[in-house]
Amino acid sequence: MEVAVVFHSRFGHTQKLAESIAHGVSGEGVSCYLASVDDLDWDRLDRAAGMILGAPTYMGSASAEFKSFMDATSLRWLNQAWRDKVAAGFTNSYGMSGDKLNVLIQLAVFATQHGMLWVGQTEMNQSSESTSLNRLGSHLGLMAQSDNAPAHQTPPSGDLQTAVCFGARVAKITRQFYR
Ligand SMILES: Cc1cc2nc3c(=O)[nH]c(=O)nc-3n(C[C@H](O)[C@H](O)[C@H](O)COP(=O)(O)O)c2cc1C
Repeated sequence: MEVAVVFHSRFGHTQKLAESIAHGVSGEGVSCYLASVDDLDWDRLDRAAGMILGAPTYMGSASAEFKSFMDATSLRWLNQAWRDKVAAGFTNSYGMSGDKLNVLIQLAVFATQHGMLWVGQTEMNQSSESTSLNRLGSHLGLMAQSDNAPAHQTPPSGDLQTAVCFGARVAKITRQFYR
C-alpha cells in the first residue's frame, strides 16, 4: 500500500511542505511516493491507495502546471479509475489568505469528480504564531504561508509540523480503508 504526494512547486516552498507531508506518511510506516508533476510515474500513481494533492496558489488558483496535471487525468475520470482512493490537499502562498481556500476547493472538487474520498485537516488552531500548528485555521485541507525568501527559511516550522501531522493522518486513514 502506498500514498502518493503529488505536487507542483516553482520556487521550492510547496515542495518543502510536500516533503514534510511525505515524512508524516512514512512515519506511520506507510510507503510514500513523492511525485512532482514535472516528472510523474503514472503507473505508480494509478497503484497508490491514497493521493495528497498540492499546488502553490498562483492568481488565486492552482498553478498552471498543476492544472495541466488535473486535465491530463480526464481519461481516468471517464473510467473512474481512481474511485475510492483516499484524497487530501494542500496549498501554500505568500498572503495569509491569498485566496488559498479557492485552491483547496479546486482540489476537493477534482478529487470528488474522480470519486475519491476527501480527508480534511484536523489539527486545531491555537495561535497565529509561526511555530503554531494550523496557524491559518484551515480545515478543508492544509494551508501554509511562505514569505518571499529562500525555501530553507520559509514556510515556518509550525506550518511544516502541521504538514507532518497531515501526512500522518492521511496515512492512517488510508490504512483503515485498505488493510
Ligand atoms: C504567478 C504567481 C501568482 C501568485 N499569486 C498569488 C496569489 O494569488 N496569492 C498569494 O498569496 N500569493 C501568490 N503568489 C505567491 C506564491 O504563492 C508564493 O511565492 C509561493 O510560496 C510559491 O510557491 P512555490 O515556491 O512552491 O512555487 C503568486 C506567485 C506567482 C509566481
